[in-house]
Amino acid sequence: MNLFPLARPALRFVDPERAHRLTIIALKSGLGPRQHGADPASLGVDLFGLHFPNPVGIAAGFDKNGEVPDAMLAMGMGFAEVGTVTPLPQAGNSRPRIFRLEAERAVINRLGFNNEGHDALKRRLEARRARGGIVGVNIGANKDAADRIADYETGIAAFEGLASYFTVNISSPNTPGLRALQNRAELEALVSRVLKARKGNVPILLKIAPDLTAPELADIAAVALDMHLDGLIVSNTTIRREGFVSGPHAHETGGLSGKPLFALSTEVLRDIYRLTKGQIPIVGVGGIASGADAYAKIRSGASLVQLYSALTYEGPALVASVKCDLAAALARDGFSHVADAVGVDAKNW
Ligand code: FNR
Repeated sequence: MNLFPLARPALRFVDPERAHRLTIIALKSGLGPRQHGADPASLGVDLFGLHFPNPVGIAAGFDKNGEVPDAMLAMGMGFAEVGTVTPLPQAGNSRPRIFRLEAERAVINRLGFNNEGHDALKRRLEARRARGGIVGVNIGANKDAADRIADYETGIAAFEGLASYFTVNISSPNTPGLRALQNRAELEALVSRVLKARKGNVPILLKIAPDLTAPELADIAAVALDMHLDGLIVSNTTIRREGFVSGPHAHETGGLSGKPLFALSTEVLRDIYRLTKGQIPIVGVGGIASGADAYAKIRSGASLVQLYSALTYEGPALVASVKCDLAAALARDGFSHVADAVGVDAKNW
């Protein structure tokens, strides 16, 4: 019996981090919903030498330790991203560190890369390797690492052969100084070392913040093009608050996600698509809560999309409704595949 949808409304009254843990436990116990039947062909995406059955993935941070990628795929996600994982286990910041902004359908978190480290994730990914499906690994650096870039190199070495793709996460606001890696000189050093650490051809994507200035975005686009990065993920959470949220938790420190992030992250996505002239695949993430939102990201330049916060509000039924409405929107506008709609609203460079 699938108790998950029944229990879910009650989780809203539980502390968000506790609710999240209970959700992971339920999913691990096989209580998650399963999609029956295949996705419509129009939703399929061929990218990075991989076939995504649909373009909707679970964003990083939901399954930091790789406990439930298969439950997320069974639920109907086209791909699952696990992590952020750091070389050594890390406790993260003190609690409370996740806040729901119910009325605004938003979340603020300052978890600080709490995770069980490379070894634990590696064991889990090895155990599920034969199951297939697209599972990306999002890698990060320990808070007290002497050489942060070395932590990313270690991540590539640890998960090559297990990861369908890598996300190099330099955009979490909750590890002091991490986002400085987005500056041009640091970024060039990071990207060149990370690409050198790769032995095979697993795609490497860079996940960026939505809070970058126009010159910083131009630098990132130039580095991505010059150094042949495989893709970009736009975006992580925002540290902005003014004009985004109000109410009791609005001024908690951390990264803001969910509905209020949608417009900002979509604008940055469009900027990056234009700056890279559509030559680098982009994963659009930030505030997606409907098929229309996913479609808007795609039209703004995203080849794939991810979501997280809306799932905590809407529950797993959201996945089917996003996909259904997206397929309908594509058909309505005469696109036979997702790829045909990528960037149509941004192609005026
Ligand atoms: C996140 N996110 C995140 N991103 C990342 O690259 N590594 C991580 O470990 C985490 N952790 C994390 C925890 C929590 C509680 C949240 C809400 C978010 C960011 C996430 O992947 C995504 O980029 C943003 O949340 C924006 O998407 P949504 O949530 O608006 O759909």
